[in-house]
Amino acid sequence: MKKTVVITGITGQDSSYLADLLLEKDYKVYGMKRRTASNDLGCATHLENDIEVVEGDLLDLPSLTKLCKLAKADEFYNLAAMSHVGTSFDQPVYTAQCTGLGVLNCLEAIRESRYHTKFYQASTSELFGGVYGETLCSERTPFYPRSPYGVAKLYGHWITINYRESFKMFTCTGILFNHESPRRGPNFVTRKVTLAIANIKAGKQDKVYLGNLDAKRDWGHARDYVEGMWRMLQHHTPDDYVLATGKTHSIRDLCNIAFAHAGLGDYTKYVKVDPRFYRPCEVDVLIGDYSKAKQVLGWEPTTTFEQLVREMVDADCTLVSSS
Ligand code: NAP
Ligand code: GDD
Repeated sequence: MKKTVVITGITGQDSSYLADLLLEKDYKVYGMKRRTASNDLGCATHLENDIEVVEGDLLDLPSLTKLCKLAKADEFYNLAAMSHVGTSFDQPVYTAQCTGLGVLNCLEAIRESRYHTKFYQASTSELFGGVYGETLCSERTPFYPRSPYGVAKLYGHWITINYRESFKMFTCTGILFNHESPRRGPNFVTRKVTLAIANIKAGKQDKVYLGNLDAKRDWGHARDYVEGMWRMLQHHTPDDYVLATGKTHSIRDLCNIAFAHAGLGDYTKYVKVDPRFYRPCEVDVLIGDYSKAKQVLGWEPTTTFEQLVREMVDADCTLVSSS
């Protein structure tokens, strides 16, 4: 019999890659999207005819319960969130409700539906936020979130573990470091840079304004990371895992590689700093230790930072030149 899955946030980057993967594995996919005026499927537009789209909202428990009862799912991936760290400083209450309490709503919906649905929660390297220096963060590193987003995710992380321990539910958390792709939202720094490059090449823009160029992130490819999420729920025991590449690069490195690949040369001719994009509290460096995922799940990243950046630049150049 076909396995059935619920994925929340189906219009987002990760959900669309996860849906691609699970359709290949012959799952029946229910994708939850919140109501919007445009009603478009975002990153999952290409899957319109292959998945069942159901309206629902992380803030609305009845919609989640109804979805769980309808799908009777084997697996439930909660990938929906207010996922932008910068925005969370401007919308802290909504972020707490959506990114924090929304997780509790998912868990309660599964509990109420009484099906033995395995649950994946999208935790984040932002949990480590203020860790000192270039520390390789693992599942044993103490948390120190540095934004309303990180704090909300901390609640989501621990409530997921608490439901595993309290109610013997099969719940996993993936503590994922940054992962990107050509489907990345345009207001995250990688995509902002690669889209700007495409527009500069097409003569539609002459500069790009960024914030802190010295921050460093451990960047991988979203396609690799959704494979890791799936492997977590296939393992016989629910647990928590870091997914990362173990390498870190600054925003300057990103610009260097991206502008050079596009043939535009020195990025400092185009990249200007605008303090509007600084955050009240910054996470200076993130770098992850994925050895547990490698050992237990056999998971490893397959895409280098350079390959990722080149893929994103090429995809945006094609997108802009054909629009
Ligand atoms: P994304 O592209 O921003 O997608 C977020 C999704 O959540 C969108 O589909 C969005 O819908 C939906 N959403 C927002 N508020 C909602 C609500 N109240 N009810 C239902 N859906 C709602 O995020 P992503 O990069 O794919 O990340 C997936 C998950 O992993 C997120 O939880 C994120 O916090 C977490 N995470 C991401 C990374 C990363 O580097 N990408 C790393 C660690 C953890 P709309 O289209 O309507 O806005
Ligand atoms: N967005 C953005 N825009 N970031 C900028 C800019 C800019 O113009 N200029 C510099 N940055 C810096 C940010 O200050 C941050 O240090 C870094 O670039 C990365 O920012 P984002 O791409 O917005 O990602 P993030 O690391 O804050 O958050 C992402 O990764 C988390 C995992 O570590 C998101 O996907 C989160 O949802 C995810 O949990």
